[in-house]
Amino acid sequence: MDKNECIGIPTETVYGLAGNAYSDIAASKIFKLKKRIKKNPLIVHYYNLDLLDKDCHINSMFIKLYKKFCPGPITFILKKKRGSKISNLVTNNKKTLAVRFPKHKLTRSLLKILDYPLAAPSANISTKISPTSREDVVEDFGNKLKFVLNGGRSKVGLESTIVSLLNKPEILRLGGTDIKEINKTLKMKLSYKKKRNKILAPGQSRIHYSPGIPIRLNVIKPKESDAFILIKRRKIFNKNFFYLTKNKNLKEAAKNLYKILRLIKKQKFKTIAVERIPNKSFGQAINDRLKRASKFK
Ligand code: TXA
Ligand code: MG
Repeated sequence: MDKNECIGIPTETVYGLAGNAYSDIAASKIFKLKKRIKKNPLIVHYYNLDLLDKDCHINSMFIKLYKKFCPGPITFILKKKRGSKISNLVTNNKKTLAVRFPKHKLTRSLLKILDYPLAAPSANISTKISPTSREDVVEDFGNKLKFVLNGGRSKVGLESTIVSLLNKPEILRLGGTDIKEINKTLKMKLSYKKKRNKILAPGQSRIHYSPGIPIRLNVIKPKESDAFILIKRRKIFNKNFFYLTKNKNLKEAAKNLYKILRLIKKQKFKTIAVERIPNKSFGQAINDRLKRASKFK
């Protein structure tokens, strides 16, 4: 991979738009392609702790979580080391760094052979639906991307959970790792504030993940023209019904969420109604995404 180029990569959460995290040229290409505001920093992806050691200060909480969940759908905010070569565009000149160790085999084999980590936001145009397949990435970027590695459908289907491990540890974004498991591992209850003054993580932007169609949540009876998103099987068949799962399997529902939102958009529905989704484990992350998507104007 060219050290200043930018390509699509599969991860277990969503596909990423990846470039050399040490290169200003690659980083600025990422922001431009994605139409992302410069002040929103990128996550840097590593194979293991070897390269990370040059870039971040690690602490005991990080080690505990790393051992338990990595590689996997979790991102850590750590203090950046002074001598780090990470481009200032990647961090927006911050003294902190978001780091992640993705699980997808193909991307792991790429990271293993590179002598730099990869900065990668989700491979979608800013504020739109994140991609969970190669086709989704191609749909958003066409031939503006030289190539997109094909790693099949993302298994988790939601972005990584972001945990800040700075002064007071806290959850910044709900995602593919259940916060209950994180709390259990750290033997403490991390806080998660839904509303923040400053945008620290993408989940905090009001119009994130938007399919560009108004969404109503907790709907019992949809309107005839709605695309209706469901999590448990109904006896009747209706072509406007879209199942995330047929038996309330919330992990499966999370995996299918973005795929279904894209499908609904393609079918040109004007409104989306969603059945009530229990606000626990992955259901909490799904509801979070849907609420933000429903703020679309
Ligand atoms: O699952 C994922 O995390 C995917 C895959 C591709 O790895 N990536 C992803 O990246 O969701 P992105 O850029 O869409 O969201 C990452 C967010 C940024 O929007 C930013 O707000 C937050 O992480 N972030 C990055 N650096 C940060 C920092 N130093 N402090 C707080 N938040 C940070
Ligand atoms: Mg994103």
